[in-house]
Amino acid sequence: SRVRHYKFSVVMKNATKLCSTKPIVTVNGKFPGPTLYAREGDTVIVRVVNHVQYNITIHWHGVRQLRTGWADGPAYITQCPIQPGQNYIYNFTISGQRGTLLWHAHITWIRATVHGAIVILPKLGVPYPFPTPDKEKIIVLGEWWKSDIETMISQAMQAGVAPNVSDAHTINGQTGPVPNCSSTGFTLHVESGKTYLLRIVNAAVNDELFFKVAGHQLTVVEVDAAYTKPFKTDTIFIAPGQTTNALLTADQGIGKYLIAISPFMDTVVAVDNVTGIATLRYQGTNAFPPTMLTSIPSQNATPVTESFIASLKSLNSNQYPAKVPLKIDHSLYFAIGVGVNPCATCVNGSRVVADINNVTFVMPTTALLQAHYYNISGVFTDDFPANPQIPFNYTGAPPSNLQTMNGTKVYRVAFNSTVQVVFQGTNIIAPESHPTHLHGFNFYAVGRGVGNFDPENDPKSFNLVDPVERNTLSVPTAGWTAIRFTADNPGIWFLHCHLEVHTTWGLKMAFLVDNGKGPNESLLPPPSDLPMC
Ligand code: C2O
Repeated sequence: SRVRHYKFSVVMKNATKLCSTKPIVTVNGKFPGPTLYAREGDTVIVRVVNHVQYNITIHWHGVRQLRTGWADGPAYITQCPIQPGQNYIYNFTISGQRGTLLWHAHITWIRATVHGAIVILPKLGVPYPFPTPDKEKIIVLGEWWKSDIETMISQAMQAGVAPNVSDAHTINGQTGPVPNCSSTGFTLHVESGKTYLLRIVNAAVNDELFFKVAGHQLTVVEVDAAYTKPFKTDTIFIAPGQTTNALLTADQGIGKYLIAISPFMDTVVAVDNVTGIATLRYQGTNAFPPTMLTSIPSQNATPVTESFIASLKSLNSNQYPAKVPLKIDHSLYFAIGVGVNPCATCVNGSRVVADINNVTFVMPTTALLQAHYYNISGVFTDDFPANPQIPFNYTGAPPSNLQTMNGTKVYRVAFNSTVQVVFQGTNIIAPESHPTHLHGFNFYAVGRGVGNFDPENDPKSFNLVDPVERNTLSVPTAGWTAIRFTADNPGIWFLHCHLEVHTTWGLKMAFLVDNGKGPNESLLPPPSDLPMC
């Protein structure tokens, strides 16, 4: 294994899209930012230098960070922000993972423009467990706003105002062609007969997405840097924070084919029908226009998302076995809710909040991991509830009192204990699917269903053999999904909805995993350049 050095200069850069220009925060002046390449087992050292007027942190989404929580990146959870003019070196080793992940800023909504792909190749000499592709292509999906980040956040925080919908979806930083603007859209160049590994990253801020290529089937082989049983599909469903590797063979007539991404929202609350467009172009063609898609899923095509999710299974081969915890030490039931809390500084004296088990997470002003490591009291409490505070019929009418409890609460578990979390999606206010992300771990998605979770009968149908392994999973509206993981990584690990609007509203919590007793079971000491608050 090798050590790979990167320098991330955070700089402002003017970007022009949809015929208008605005300055955006970027890494090295690029949107999307640079791709990080490593092999499994490599150590990655990224020196982040902050040249902008905003506080910055970078999160290596899905990288397990075994014992190196200081390099995880969420602001005020594992580190204080890198202030303007300051820098910080993220130093971590990639172990037991191979595939595609993403990195992104993890403070306010800056990840809208500060993100990029992480490519983890297998160890030297180790082949993929699927036919070797002729070429690999990275496809980063995003959202574009004409307005600036502050406007987006303040709108999201206003009472009763629907979240600001993006003005366009982007594919590798480009919107589709816009009349009279210079944009032509992204082109994916292929050669007839060759097979391509598409490394698809959803770096969008608030939209779960469908991805389709006209005339071509895709074979999914990996999600969130874990191999899957290969399966063919004409539609990929991918939530913010998720990554999907799929094989595409250029086996159709030489020509051009439309690539489209469109948003999924199972209850249409904000109309967002902007379809992002790119072109798959065979070498040797000038065909015009491209072959169109016969259909794209409707915005509320829940059956399409559910059948895609149901098709995902761990590869579970001898070489890559699924290691699903069978005995559970902590059985948790997390109901996701949306509420309304008093707010003195808000327009109507109240604002929309989101919660887990009726707790709306309040960001601390000191990083939780520092408070934990140095035993600073008063920053968080470890009484996060294992069950809903006020149970109700999650799929029916909302409870009459929508007020939540504010708190900076973590759930504490012993090193190496096993955890099951059943996430219960609800029907409150704007019922929506929540792509829930756990830092520091891969989990197994062992079960899923509609309605209220039934603790007696639903576990009987859990897949404990080859459930998909991932780090981000959509919790269905008025349904539930169950995950399991082994808490083998000491530190503080954030769990949150990866729709930035919901994170902002408080849909987040953290796990505290205590050190174990063995020599390799403790959080490493913080690096000397760790930013202070
Ligand atoms: Cu991709 Cu906590 O984030």
